[in-house]
Amino acid sequence: MGNRSCLAIILAAGEGTRMRSVQPKVLHRIAGSSMLAHVLDAVRAAGGTAAAVVIGPDADTVAAEARRVLPAAEIFLQAERLGTAHAVLAAKAAIAGGADDVLIIFGDTPLIRPQTLRRMRDALAGGAAIAVLGFRPQDPSGYGRLLLEGGELVAIREEADAGAAERAIPICNGGLMAFAGRTALAILERIGRNNRKGEFYLTDAVAIARAMQLKAVAIETEEDDVRGINTKAQLAEAEADLQERLRKAAMEAGVTLVAPETVFLSADTKLGRDVVVEPFVYFGPGVTVEDNALIHSFCHLVHAHVGKGAEVGPFARLRPGAQLGVNVHIGNFVEIKASVIEDGAKANHLAYIGDSRLGAGSNFGAGAIVCNYDGIAKHRTDIGKGVFIGSNSALVAPVKIGDGAYVATGSVITHDVPADGLAIARERQVVKDNRASRLRALKGAGKKKAGE
Ligand code: UD1
Ligand code: MG
Repeated sequence: MGNRSCLAIILAAGEGTRMRSVQPKVLHRIAGSSMLAHVLDAVRAAGGTAAAVVIGPDADTVAAEARRVLPAAEIFLQAERLGTAHAVLAAKAAIAGGADDVLIIFGDTPLIRPQTLRRMRDALAGGAAIAVLGFRPQDPSGYGRLLLEGGELVAIREEADAGAAERAIPICNGGLMAFAGRTALAILERIGRNNRKGEFYLTDAVAIARAMQLKAVAIETEEDDVRGINTKAQLAEAEADLQERLRKAAMEAGVTLVAPETVFLSADTKLGRDVVVEPFVYFGPGVTVEDNALIHSFCHLVHAHVGKGAEVGPFARLRPGAQLGVNVHIGNFVEIKASVIEDGAKANHLAYIGDSRLGAGSNFGAGAIVCNYDGIAKHRTDIGKGVFIGSNSALVAPVKIGDGAYVATGSVITHDVPADGLAIARERQVVKDNRASRLRALKGAGKKKAGE
C-alpha cells in the first residue's frame, strides 16, 4: 500500500425507517459506539487519510457525531435520495481532491474490519480501477449479484434487474467498493438511472469501467464484515457478533474472562494483562483497567480508570471520571463519580464518593458518603493521605480533610478538618441506668390493656 493516500466516503443519508426510531439510523449504538463511529474507526485503522460523510436533510446530529469522532471529516448533503451513485457524487469535491484510493462504505455496515478495507486497497495498489467486496449470504435475496469471468468482475446486477440465471449466482455485492482515485470521477459521472428503480446505481460502475478497458475485481469476505443493519433485531445480532469479537480479542491479549458470554465490552475497552473479570460485568465506553486488577461480578463501569492490582466489586459502580490508583479496593455497593482514589485507598462497603479526592492509603468507612450537591451546584471534597473516615459519616462539600486526620463514625462534617485532627460531629451519647426494664414493664402494661 506504501504511502497511498485514501479518502473514505461514508454514505449515511438513509432514513432508516425500519428502525422505527426518531434517531438517524447510523447513530444507533453497538458496543458503546455509534455505527458511524465504528465505520470511521475502521477507516482510520485502515490508513484512511480523509473522510467525507454524506448525510440527508435534517441530519445535524449525524454531522456532529462524524466531527466528534474525526474532526477533519468533511460533511456533504444529499438533498434528494436518488441512489447510491448519486450519494457518492454529493462528495464530488472530496473525490476531486485526488486521493490515490477512494473507499465507499455504507454507514450502516458497522462490523467492517480494517483488514478487509486494507485488502480492497491492496487490490487498487495492484492495478485494479475498482475492487468490490463480495460475500456469499445464506439468503441472497435483495442483494446485487456479482458477475465474474475468469477472476475478473464484469458487472453487478441488482436483484430487481436480474434474470433467473443471474439470481442463482451465490456471490453477492456486500456494498463496499474501492475506486482508484485517478479514474473514479470519470467512471462515476457516466452512471445513469436507466433501470427498474430509476436510481443512480453505484453498482453500474463495474460495467462502465470494463467498457473503459479498466480492471474490476471482487474481494470475498465473510458475511459478518458486510452485515447491514436495518432493524432493531439486526442491531442486536450485530451487537452479539461484535461482543464475541471483543471478548476473543481480550482473552487473546491475556485477560481472564471467567464466563465470557456474560461480560459486556465496549469497542474501546482496554483491559491489561492478567486482569480477571468475573461473570456479569458491564464495561461502558471509555474504560481502562490496568494489569492484574480484579473485577468481581455485577460491576458497572463507564469512562473509568482502574489501576494496577486494584480490586472492584462485587456490585460496584464506577461512573465517568472515576480514577482508581494502584491496589485500590472498591467494595460492594460503592459508587464513585469524578473522583481520584489514590494508591492503596479503600472504600469497601456501601459508600458514595463524588467530585472528590481520596488520598493514598485512606479508608472510607461503610455507609459514609460525600454530600457533593447542595441542590444548586456541585462541590469538591478533598481527603488527604492516610485519613480514616468513620462509618456512616457525611462529608458536606466543599470540605477538606487533612492528611492523617480521623473522622469519627456517624459525623456530619461541615467544616475543614486539619491534618492529624480528630473530628467528632454527632450527638453525645446519653445512658440512663436501669431504664430498660422499666421501659419494658411500661410497654407490657400498655399491651395488656389493649388486649383486655
Ligand atoms: C446496495 C447495492 C447492492 C448490495 C447491497 C448490500 C446499489 C445500487 N446496490 O443495495 O448491490 O448488494 O447494497 O447491502 O448500490 N444511500 C444514500 N443515498 C441514496 C441511496 C442510498 O445515502 O440515495 C445509502 C443508504 O443509507 C445505505 C447505502 O447507501 O447506507 C445503501 O443503500 P440501500 O438503499 O440500502 O441499497 P441496497 O438496495 O441495499
Ligand atoms: Mg441496503
